[in-house]
Amino acid sequence: MKTGHVKTGHVKTGHVKTGHVKTGHVKTGHVKTGDTGAQGVDGMAVTFEQMRRRHLPSVLRIEHRAHPKPWSLGVFTSELSQGSSRYYVVVRADGKVAGYGGLMFVADEGHVTNIAIAPALRRQRLGTLLLAHLAHEATSRGCAAMTLEVRMGNFAAQALYKNFGFVAAGVRRNYYPETGEDALIMWLYGLRSPDVQARLEELERVR
Ligand SMILES: CC(C)(COP(=O)(O)OP(=O)(O)OC[C@H]1O[C@@H](n2cnc3c(N)ncnc32)[C@H](O)[C@@H]1OP(=O)(O)O)[C@@H](O)C(=O)NCCC(=O)NCCS
Repeated sequence: MKTGHVKTGHVKTGHVKTGHVKTGHVKTGHVKTGDTGAQGVDGMAVTFEQMRRRHLPSVLRIEHRAHPKPWSLGVFTSELSQGSSRYYVVVRADGKVAGYGGLMFVADEGHVTNIAIAPALRRQRLGTLLLAHLAHEATSRGCAAMTLEVRMGNFAAQALYKNFGFVAAGVRRNYYPETGEDALIMWLYGLRSPDVQARLEELERVR
C-alpha cells in the first residue's frame, strides 16, 4: 500500500454498538452510539475505538508479528496525523487491543492501508468484524468502492477479502522489494449497493 508520502508495504495501497452480545443464542442489531461499540464473537466482547497515539505500543507489538516489513512508530504517527484522509481503528476483545486496521480515502475509494489481528486471536472472526467496520466507515464517507494490495502468497488475507466480495483485478510485479513478492490488487465494487450492504450485515451476524 502506498500512503502518499510513504510506501508502506502490507495491504499497500464506525458506528457504535453497546451491550455485551453472547454468541450462539443471542443476537442484537446495530446500535449506533458514537465511535465505539460492542459485538460478540466466541463469547468475547468486541469493541472498536478510533486509533490514538496511546494505542501505538499495543499496535506495534501486533504489527511486528503480522508483517514481514512492519510499519515503524514513525509511519503510524504520520498516518494518524493525516486528518480526514485517513481512518484508523483498533479492535478490542474483552478490553484488550486485538488488532487494528486503516483506510485512506482517495476520491470515492477507500484504500485499506493496513489490517492485522494478534496471532493468538486469529480465526475467531475478529478480522471479519474489523473489515466490516472499515467497510461501514467507507460507506458512511460516500465511498463507492474499496481496494487494497495483498501479497500474492498471503492466502489467509485473500480468503478474508474474497468473503466480502473483493475480486482480483491485477498484479503489481515485485511490489514488495524485501521479498521480491508480487502484489495482488483487489477491489470491492458497488460498496453502497444493497447486495454488498446485505453481505456486510451477514458477515457481522453473530454465529
Ligand atoms: C488476515 C487476518 C487479518 C485475518 O484475521 P482473522 O481474525 O484471523 O480472520 P477471520 O477469523 O475473520 O477469518 C475470516 C475468514 O478468512 C479466511 N482465513 C482467515 N485466516 C485464514 C487462514 N490462516 N487460512 C485460510 N483462510 C483463512 C477464512 O475464510 C476465514 O473464515 P473461516 O474461519 O470461517 O474459515 C490475520 O490473519 C492477520 O492479521 N494476518 C497477518 C496480517 C495480514 O496478513 N494482513 C493482511 C495484509 S493484506
